[in-house]
Amino acid sequence: MNSKEETLAEKDKKHIIHPWSDLGSDADPMIIESGKGIHVFDHQGNKYIDSISGMWCVNLGYGNREMAQAIADQCVKLAYYTPFGDMASPPSIQLADKLSRLTPGDLNHFQFTNSGSTAVESAIRFAHYYFNCLGQPDKKHIIYRENAYHGSTYLCASLNGKKCDKSYFNYITDIVHSISDPNPFKRPAGMSVEDFCDLRVRELEDKILELSPEKAACFIAEPVMGSGGVIIPPPGYHKKTLDICRKYGVLYISDEVVTAFGRLGHYFASEDVFGIVPDIITVAKGISSGYQPLGAAIISEKLMGRISGESASENSYYTNGYTYSGHPVTCAAALKYLEIMERDRINEHVLEVGTYFMERLETLREFPIVGDVRGVGLMACVECVVSDNEQENIAVAQRVDEFCQGKGLIVRPYENLCILSPPLIIEKEGIDQIVDILRQSIIATMDERNKAERDKETL
Ligand SMILES: Cc1ncc(COP(=O)(O)O)c(C=O)c1O
Repeated sequence: MNSKEETLAEKDKKHIIHPWSDLGSDADPMIIESGKGIHVFDHQGNKYIDSISGMWCVNLGYGNREMAQAIADQCVKLAYYTPFGDMASPPSIQLADKLSRLTPGDLNHFQFTNSGSTAVESAIRFAHYYFNCLGQPDKKHIIYRENAYHGSTYLCASLNGKKCDKSYFNYITDIVHSISDPNPFKRPAGMSVEDFCDLRVRELEDKILELSPEKAACFIAEPVMGSGGVIIPPPGYHKKTLDICRKYGVLYISDEVVTAFGRLGHYFASEDVFGIVPDIITVAKGISSGYQPLGAAIISEKLMGRISGESASENSYYTNGYTYSGHPVTCAAALKYLEIMERDRINEHVLEVGTYFMERLETLREFPIVGDVRGVGLMACVECVVSDNEQENIAVAQRVDEFCQGKGLIVRPYENLCILSPPLIIEKEGIDQIVDILRQSIIATMDERNKAERDKETL
């Protein structure tokens, strides 16, 4: 027997398969043990500002006792019961009722799931079922965008538009089709933002026509592309793409897993920020402030009306759902979060501090290694650009992230971006601390690069 007790890091490396990890790496994991407000603490007692809310989800910050109490109370009252067939438990019904008063337009039917991936998966499976019921079984094709992120089930992973996510695994290829993302920062030189918007919208229309409207089932889009680099589309893009979808009978799925429940200062971004009412919205993460794993595919009354009740197809049966769909404890957590959101005016707070957040981040443009700063609400990124060499830009952003971590700030590195999405309860003081550490880390990275240049010259 081993006389020396293994450390947590050693046990982790021995047993855990981490999502999106390098299986060839022997690096120690960063083990986060506790949290309070906007801070987390690792198992060695180091304190960090968590400027990514765990993973875009811990909207109320850490250690919220009201959330913990609501979860504990529901565990004691009813920890679980099956949602299958005609069975139900009160929290999911209460949550659906509450949400139906917050969703855009007539989106008032909820298929609860246990993650964002299963919400997106359910939305697509619903779209296929819907067209089968309407006697249009050829309508199966799904259009997504480069740099999109929609999850990690087989189907959702096939809709991810990041090239780096698509090595070594297999993907569905016959019914998924990508079009370009609408990143105005990457538009062709000399092109106006308006023309760029029309170019991207035309690409969607061309793709639908290439597939044929009889085969194109749905278009899926994040209102603001999150993991793909906080890409905010040009004004009017969502409205115009929705119009194209309506013109050809293609369903519009808005993937609001990141953007709903306060991140942009609204319950839902689709209508309040971008002026559209999609056919389906998918949510997860912030719906329960990340305190419990919960997601939902939200379907419009119009779609449901065509395939349910007296309109239901003969012998049709909706065989889609999960053991934990509408789990009472996860729904109780979401109900408590919505109560706190309303009482503490979280949306109003985000609108106020979000403006300050962007103003402060904009000051980082003064540094030559900062190529772009963009964001909305409490969702932002700093893009590092030093040359045309992608790898060099990625190395610079990673160095900035490493300096940040050393100075007590966790930011999310993605390619050449430092992605930020702090808890929604953050105050101006916390924002100042984030931007100050970022500033120091950018300066440290530049100093290091300059020194390396000088050393090269003196060789
Ligand atoms: C827009 C979007 N959709 C879906 C997902 C998948 O959610 P989950 O990781 O909960 O399955 C994510 C996760 O980051 C996301 O950002």
